[in-house]
Amino acid sequence: MRIKVIAGNWKMNNDLFESKDLISRLLNGLINTTANCEVVICPPFTSLSEASAMIKGSTIKLGAQNFHQEEIGAFTGEVSAKMLLSTGCEFVIIGHSERRTIFMETDELINKKILRAINNNLKPIFCVGELLEEREKNITEQVIQRQVLKGLENFSVGYLKNLIIAYEPVWAIGTGKTANPQQAEEVHHFIRKLIERHFSQEFAKSLRILYGGSVKPDNSKDLLAQKNIDGALVGGACLNADSFLNIIKSA
Ligand code: 13P
Repeated sequence: MRIKVIAGNWKMNNDLFESKDLISRLLNGLINTTANCEVVICPPFTSLSEASAMIKGSTIKLGAQNFHQEEIGAFTGEVSAKMLLSTGCEFVIIGHSERRTIFMETDELINKKILRAINNNLKPIFCVGELLEEREKNITEQVIQRQVLKGLENFSVGYLKNLIIAYEPVWAIGTGKTANPQQAEEVHHFIRKLIERHFSQEFAKSLRILYGGSVKPDNSKDLLAQKNIDGALVGGACLNADSFLNIIKSA
């Protein structure tokens, strides 16, 4: 039985005051809700410590959006896995399409980050997804296969028990165009089979695969009803407490 995960990727939104306000609203909203899922928020670095203090004792868990692949050193402006852990982070998003395209992150770098996260007891939310032109060329599966296998290269299955994969078709991110539930389910099924072939059936069965890309309260129920969709990685809709709470309820 895979427990669903609803994770909110705040991206570069919300200063400390706005973060506190949003978290208060979420905490209030969750008081009367028995969430049957794991709820994770991923605020920007500057709000992590405060978020951690606020959600202590609640059902909300904390994640970060990025970190540097090295353990420590002269990397001005960067944040390490250990630093994230010290703020109370349990999860970290790795390989988001915005990191891949805007910050030129490669599959090799993402592989190093996954290793560093796991070595520091951070649970990776490892993102993969095809571009619109790749979908139109019918090479979605090849792209996803490359991203998944390169990202997880040289890992033994025992190492990956806390891994979460997020399938986020790039053409659906921030565009209002969601993959329809069947399109999403097809890719999730493909990823699970791929993991089964390359790792093990047992791991494939337990692995949680989230969908991301314009998830909203009015489409989340249908997406989450799919057999291989184990949750959502929400962008825009997680910035509004009511809409994030409604997505949580739909899980
Ligand atoms: P939107 O929900 O705004 O499309 O963003 C999805 C996303 O990138 C989550 O990581």
